[in-house]
Amino acid sequence: MAIHRNTSGTLTQAQLTHPENLRELRQGLLGLPRRISSKFFYDDRGSDLFCQITELEEYYLTACEFEILHQNASRIGKIVAGSRGNTAVSILEAGPGDGRKTQIITRSFANLFDSVSYGAIDISPEALDVALQRVSQDMDIQTHSVIGDTLHSLPDLVSTATGSRLFLFLGSNIGNYASDGAARLLSVIREALFPGDFVLIGFDLEKEQEILIPAYSDSKGVTREFNLNLLKRLNRELGADFDVNEFEHEARYNVEAGAMQSFLVSQKRQKVNIEAMGLDLVFEQAEEIHTENSHKFTLDGIESMASRAGFVPIEHFFDTRNYFTTSLWKIPDAAPV
Ligand code: AVJ
Repeated sequence: MAIHRNTSGTLTQAQLTHPENLRELRQGLLGLPRRISSKFFYDDRGSDLFCQITELEEYYLTACEFEILHQNASRIGKIVAGSRGNTAVSILEAGPGDGRKTQIITRSFANLFDSVSYGAIDISPEALDVALQRVSQDMDIQTHSVIGDTLHSLPDLVSTATGSRLFLFLGSNIGNYASDGAARLLSVIREALFPGDFVLIGFDLEKEQEILIPAYSDSKGVTREFNLNLLKRLNRELGADFDVNEFEHEARYNVEAGAMQSFLVSQKRQKVNIEAMGLDLVFEQAEEIHTENSHKFTLDGIESMASRAGFVPIEHFFDTRNYFTTSLWKIPDAAPV
């Protein structure tokens, strides 16, 4: 079986064959309930499918945040500039996707600052290429990128920044983290940044299940394909023999968790072998693999997350339907000595 290596010959964290990932997969697949982490969705095919999801009518999140950024980017820029009379700004971002949201911000900031630079962090070098290309295609902007995960590599990204910093974590990506995980991530971000810096974070808001459920089980079946791609990925990269026709996608709202949850449901009793892990599994009929939590938030919840991590919430920006909020937080200025 082919093991993909990067040029320096070491396995990158994005690869399933990385020992840490193999360990996590084994633990998840043997757990009760069975689990595969949503961080494994994003191989090339998965990233492409997610991109298609963002264009679906039912998946309102992306359209909402586009609307929010179009309406408010210049106001956000003025707040960031105003607080210290900043003329230089570094926009930093975790998981930029295709860079289209970033571009709204960089274009708008170009009118407000003498100098704008952009730095992005992602586990996928391909994704970074796409985002950086888009951001720099129509403006003169200094860009840099760090390949890695936010938890470990954020300080590397921040060290390249000059001027006042605005850190972007958009798209309700934070919704994939459990509350302790989100708190840990926010603390890491807080520690990597400096007094007077800002963060802009996207949160999908709690709403009726009539809107949530179709967003995660769309009529064209793109989300179903996105979820099933996890099994195809295990087949491709780990020599597994999942029969993807015998698993179904299901999305449900878990009220206690405050999260949409995605599952792959075994359609019959069946055996699966995962060659690279030396693992044989038996799935009972209707047995599930839990593949994703997409948490939904309240404004109170968002504000208490902000304060607990050492940020001050400055302003929440909303779309016209109030489905989503992109929230601007600040690290308090250092007290005078
Ligand atoms: C990229 C994590 C924000 O949870 O809404 C979309 C991923 N999963 N459809 C989300 C996803 C199923 C998405 N995030």
